[in-house]
Amino acid sequence: MANDNETFKKIISHAKEYGFVFPSSEIYDGLSAVYDYGQNGVALKNNIREYWWKSMVQLHENIVGIDAAIFMHPTTWKASGHVDAFNDPLIDNKDSKKRYRADVLVEDYVAKIEAKIEKEVAKAAKRFGDQFDQQQFLQTNPRVLDYQEKATAILKRLGQSLEKEDLADVKALIEELEIACPESGSRNWTDVKQFNLMFGTKLGASAATAMDLYLRPETAQGIFVNFLNVQKTGRMKLPFGIAQTGKAFRNEIIARQFIFRMREFEQMEMQFFIPPGTQKEWYDHWKKTRLDWHLALGISAENYRFHDHEKLAHYADAACDIEFKFPFGFKELEGIHSRTDFDLSSHEEYAGKKLKYFDPERNESYTPYVLETSIGLDRMFLAIFSNAYTEEPLEDGSTRIVLKIPAVLAPTKVAVLPLVKKDGLPERARQIVDTLKWDMTAVYDEKDAVGRRYRRQDALGTPYCVTVDHQSLEDGTVTLRDRDTMQQERVNIDTLSQTLAKQVDLRSLLEKLSN
Ligand code: GAP
Repeated sequence: MANDNETFKKIISHAKEYGFVFPSSEIYDGLSAVYDYGQNGVALKNNIREYWWKSMVQLHENIVGIDAAIFMHPTTWKASGHVDAFNDPLIDNKDSKKRYRADVLVEDYVAKIEAKIEKEVAKAAKRFGDQFDQQQFLQTNPRVLDYQEKATAILKRLGQSLEKEDLADVKALIEELEIACPESGSRNWTDVKQFNLMFGTKLGASAATAMDLYLRPETAQGIFVNFLNVQKTGRMKLPFGIAQTGKAFRNEIIARQFIFRMREFEQMEMQFFIPPGTQKEWYDHWKKTRLDWHLALGISAENYRFHDHEKLAHYADAACDIEFKFPFGFKELEGIHSRTDFDLSSHEEYAGKKLKYFDPERNESYTPYVLETSIGLDRMFLAIFSNAYTEEPLEDGSTRIVLKIPAVLAPTKVAVLPLVKKDGLPERARQIVDTLKWDMTAVYDEKDAVGRRYRRQDALGTPYCVTVDHQSLEDGTVTLRDRDTMQQERVNIDTLSQTLAKQVDLRSLLEKLSN
């Protein structure tokens, strides 16, 4: 665990040092759980967003996109249930005066049990070598079975207590598990209380007439309130989807783990409107489609797992998370929720306006059901970034830091480097950048020795470096260096654009989704 913590710290400082993520308003010592994206971070974030958007909107003829406002009529949040039920169960430690999410304290306890299971597996794998059958070991080893049973029982009880709003039992569970405050080490806890996560603000010029508003805590409601607008103007037939990316705001209590849990963050959500009764089929469909989207990036499947929700949100009849193995363990990356007709029915009731769909095949009007996929863009950024961060020992005894970001998502696709700053090499290198820049992000870099420039581009995650040398001027070839293998090959300048495009074009990734 200590090692993972160390790695995570290095990832955070790398993100800052190389212009990916900065603490917000840092010159004033920052603002807790709020971050800014730097010049390379914004490029990576835009590329992830584009991958998501095109996979949803461009590749599906029955999914369209919108961009709704952050401010919404305040009744929206009454109808959606957020005013009454968008709460976190909080507990304070009386000695450290620190506030925690009670459910997260219990989940962290369970994560420690899971870490013990992983340790047992690693030990056994070492002992048995090639003979080791992990599946069989997990199903038969008595110690592992004990751990698993304990973890399952704890999560089940937590889920049930939260479902029943039995906060006294959540506290009892924390006490029974003897969970101590990570800060003070004491078990002197207050009762568990609910705390609403929405940020309030005001609209209007004078205090007397101002209207209380909320900053939206999810983008989804902007889609629900526009359901009929889109359906009618786009003449959409069920099943169809509406996609949106945009900012959401939550007054999160646990402000840690870098950009994993932020107070201002970005969501990429898609609401898929379906006939009632088909939700199970579409739930399975979108679970598979979304996992495939992640796996197409080439990150090992072992880093992903589904986690079914024990406690269903007030709107859902089924829900699961796609969890990712972050440096601090498996945690939610994306949610897939079967939301029934809760939202549309509730808006219909509060707004007093019909939000029904006339189904020509069934010859009846009804309120559609909704299948939602919802992923945090910042969390996806963290998943990609933390997975990419690699410290690689080299043959000469040194270590290189390389960001193995999938080439298609990398902020810069190619760096063009003149071997020396004279003899016409810089001019030739600049010409190459000018040719490539129409198809991909290409940069020119002439500072320092070429070896250092390679290291710098490795640390930025640039998948290719092109070096222009004296031979280039004679025969029109350059060396093309691959970030991950560090192999170099001589290629013709005329074919460079085509060779690179195959590797870095978003199309190559999108094509994997339709296979
Ligand atoms: N419309 C459904 C919804 O908002 P959610 O599970 O609360 O569901 C969806 O959020 C996704 O948004 C999460 O899976 C996560 O990736 C991201 N997310 C939620 N809260 C976040 C936060 N405080 N910081 C960063 N990302 C967050």
